Amino acid sequence: MLFRQLFDAESSTYTYLVADAKAGVAALVDPVREHLARDLQLLQELGLKLRWIFETHIHADHVTSASELRTQTGAQTACGPRGAICADVHARHGQVLELGALSVQVLETPGHTDDSVSFLVQDRVFTGDALMVRTVGRTDFQNGNPRTLYRSVTQVLFALPDDVLVFPAHDYKGQTVSTIGEEKRFNTRVAGRSEEDFVTLMNGLKLPPPKKLVEAVSANQSCGRTALESHSA
Ligand SMILES: [Fe+2]
Repeated sequence: MLFRQLFDAESSTYTYLVADAKAGVAALVDPVREHLARDLQLLQELGLKLRWIFETHIHADHVTSASELRTQTGAQTACGPRGAICADVHARHGQVLELGALSVQVLETPGHTDDSVSFLVQDRVFTGDALMVRTVGRTDFQNGNPRTLYRSVTQVLFALPDDVLVFPAHDYKGQTVSTIGEEKRFNTRVAGRSEEDFVTLMNGLKLPPPKKLVEAVSANQSCGRTALESHSA
């Protein structure tokens, strides 16, 4: 597997490139609008054709480049059953999407938002904001639900082998990767907490809304198309 971790400093978002280099096909996980040219250049340099754009959820803090990538490369967009209606594939829990010889398994992990999914590829899982390094995503907008998130983390993600690598959609402290085993032991919001404790904690966070909440969510519901049009107007 060819793998790259890319970063957007403004929203602290990670975008991932996953590819079967032999077959010459790639997927981008959670691409960011401002980095369209960077991502297209990297694909070109590595001789890869973009097959998939995977969205872990409808983001609230940045706008996706999915629509423009789809137009320029012919790739298809995939998300969960409740993801943006503009996506080409709404994958259900357990569904496998093929990327050359690689199998990408979709895991429904709602709770941060009701459409959140994770993508499992060999020894690594792309968890979006469901499970991050030592933390989890907030649950106070976009139909988030702390009880649902607790179950997604403890029953779906923590059911994976301990040595599976966890690659989140964001990090704000410079951390790049974790493992399922580490998060079981050290995640500050989940480890050692009952479901009731977790719900109380999450409901008491009182976080300010993300700066791009309104713009990003409405744009991402149309795979970034609306924002791109207004951006270039
Ligand atoms: Fe998010």
